[in-house]
Amino acid sequence: MIGVFDSGSGGLMVLRAIREELPDADLLYFGDLAHAPYGEKSRAELFEVVTNAVAELRRAGATCVVSACNTASTVLQGNYPELLGLPRDRFVEMIEPTVARAAALKQPLLLAATPATIASGVYQSALNAAGVVAKSVALPGLAAAIEFGAPEEELENRIRDAFLEIDTAVYGGLVLACTHYLLARSTFERVFPKLVVLDPTRTVSKRVRETFGRTERGGGAVRFRASADVSLFRRRVRAMFGPDTPIEADTWSGRESDKIEG
Ligand code: DGL
Repeated sequence: MIGVFDSGSGGLMVLRAIREELPDADLLYFGDLAHAPYGEKSRAELFEVVTNAVAELRRAGATCVVSACNTASTVLQGNYPELLGLPRDRFVEMIEPTVARAAALKQPLLLAATPATIASGVYQSALNAAGVVAKSVALPGLAAAIEFGAPEEELENRIRDAFLEIDTAVYGGLVLACTHYLLARSTFERVFPKLVVLDPTRTVSKRVRETFGRTERGGGAVRFRASADVSLFRRRVRAMFGPDTPIEADTWSGRESDKIEG
């Protein structure tokens, strides 16, 4: 079973793409809404919530894990064995495939991500190592605004404010390096009609197929858990995966209240 996690709804886009790539794989999605947004947390706080999310997926029976969250991926990069108790080939994260995809775009690029992702410097190092010229831009509050259903106008204003001092005309494209931003892709495209907006989801889901495709053949079940019951998350899951999709929420501590069999 492949465990997939994010702070909330952003990773659902990745999950849907994985589903298309691997229709027979059994998938378990964990939305850590009780701790959203990840992107405004300190490194120490992030370390704790991310390791807990991965541990919960493992306890629930996941034999491989996808971090469908760029912010979480910045913590997990370089620490796979200690944090996951998983061999490296049982784990897929966002950064490496996103950078590989970005390398194919016309440069220089803009890269939009959460404040925690930008502060980590992990993307910038990976881009430099791949020879990709990019300017990283943090968008404070945007992931939470998307997660909890802020009006379109607020999303637009947050995007405009973050890019206020940047001459976007000199850039060849904009990489969305936060899975929540994928849910607002059309807003980015409206604000920057001349920029090519890169959604790395397909590259990541292909990487998941290449990495787990041979071993992960099951009945094609998709299950959902969330650490808090948020109605907009429920609505998004049901819009994307079917109106009757059950979601276990609120009580998932991984201990006595854990109803997952793995
Ligand atoms: N979706 C996550 C990411 O890709 C983080 C959003 C958040 O919780 O701040 O970075």
